[in-house]
Amino acid sequence: ITAYDIDGVKVKGYIATSLMDSFEWLNGYKVGFGFVSTAAYQIEGGWRADGKGLSIWDTFAHTPLRVFDDDTGDIACDSYNKIQEDVAMLKQLKVTHYRFSISWPRVLPDGTTNHINNAGLNYYQRLIDALLAVNIQPHVTLYHWDLPQALQDVGGWENETIIARFTDYADIIFSHLGPKVKFWITINEPYNVANIGHGYGTAAPGISFRPGTLPYIVAHNLIKAHAEVWHLYNDKYRATQKGVISMTINSDWSEPRNPYKQEDYDAARRVVQFQIGWFAHPIFNGDYSDTMKTIIRERSLAAGLLKSRLPEFSPEEIKRIKGTYDYFGFNHYTTVLAFPVDFGNLQHYDADRGVGTIADRTWLDSGSAWLKVSPFGFRRILNFIKEEYGNPPIIITENGISERGSVDLNDIQRSYYYEKYINQLLKAYLLDDVDIYGYTAWTLMDNLEWATGFAERFGLFYVNRSDPNLPRVAKASVANYSTIITCNGFPD
Ligand code: NOJ
Repeated sequence: ITAYDIDGVKVKGYIATSLMDSFEWLNGYKVGFGFVSTAAYQIEGGWRADGKGLSIWDTFAHTPLRVFDDDTGDIACDSYNKIQEDVAMLKQLKVTHYRFSISWPRVLPDGTTNHINNAGLNYYQRLIDALLAVNIQPHVTLYHWDLPQALQDVGGWENETIIARFTDYADIIFSHLGPKVKFWITINEPYNVANIGHGYGTAAPGISFRPGTLPYIVAHNLIKAHAEVWHLYNDKYRATQKGVISMTINSDWSEPRNPYKQEDYDAARRVVQFQIGWFAHPIFNGDYSDTMKTIIRERSLAAGLLKSRLPEFSPEEIKRIKGTYDYFGFNHYTTVLAFPVDFGNLQHYDADRGVGTIADRTWLDSGSAWLKVSPFGFRRILNFIKEEYGNPPIIITENGISERGSVDLNDIQRSYYYEKYINQLLKAYLLDDVDIYGYTAWTLMDNLEWATGFAERFGLFYVNRSDPNLPRVAKASVANYSTIITCNGFPD
């Protein structure tokens, strides 16, 4: 592989090793660089097709001023009608795995197993068959944010009964699609569901009036729902289907704004503990971290509450949740510089965390305000995962960069980003012994970037939205990423 600098020493030329021998097997399945990802609401369209029920994202996007330009996923990339076009792109990229998600209300229109929508199931069956026909493994996410609206109407993730609903839904999916799927993700980025959807309210269901309690309740139920589905798979399907299943957790890396200030260092640690740790600590280590438990308890009591706003797991629950992973599914994009901020008595996730963040002036921009090109943080957070969570096998389930504004198919910033981030990944793998099994690019094609609509484009392929056929056109980064896939690393 090409290594640009190793621990500050400039290395010209190559480390003469191939990754082919080692960077390739998880539970008997071939893995490596050949993954690319999407999510149902961002690409499928067909929002009312063939008996699909409404999701909270249908509702949210149809509410004025929630999504930039009032964009919706009604049509999105029309992937519901374009299996062949999507598979053609995957073939051109030469990927070995395609990560996509299932729309829960497409399969169970009211969220429950009272009614199974066979047309919806059939879409995923056809997609999986089309993938397997060209030797591409499906990597399937059960929940990528599009909760059935009918379940939201009875409290959604706030209501504990969601755990049974999610388990029933997973059971239907495993029994129908499981024989052909070896890679599963229960829930994508629970942080965003809990905090963006139920704290800031800038994602569906768009609730923001109890930011100090609701995100924690929602997260609690997400963790328990994940654990139940992992156990369901483990007890009922693993022996015959022989796949792997885990949660995908996202996190920025965080460094102190001023490395000579202990309080900045502590703030940086809090960023990570309140994001990745919120979910990974219970699943990998058992229970929430002491950092979160102590801070939220003290701030709750100081405000006159009788107990902590952070719910507690019982000892039995801690046992049941701990170890519910087969790998660490990890989404990563950027790094922040942290410093402490005192929000006084405010009962809010941000105030509990007590941090302000900025980006370094030298980090390159992307099309998204929150995403600055900061590859070094990738190696550091991979090392953090290794140290903090007992050296688990890791699959990077997302990594990528956006652009906005006028269209330029020569997307050099995307190739640059992938090259720099993958270089850091390889250092973590080869030099630091981080147990990495796979790397997934976000995303196959430009799609609905949630509340920022179609304005922020993360795709390897461009989708021409001014043409009603929504043709997909390769950007220059396609050839680049494709070479990395076929070489299982950088070319010699
Ligand atoms: C996280 C999400 O999983 C995905 O849906 C989103 O589009 C990307 N990151 C980029 O923001």
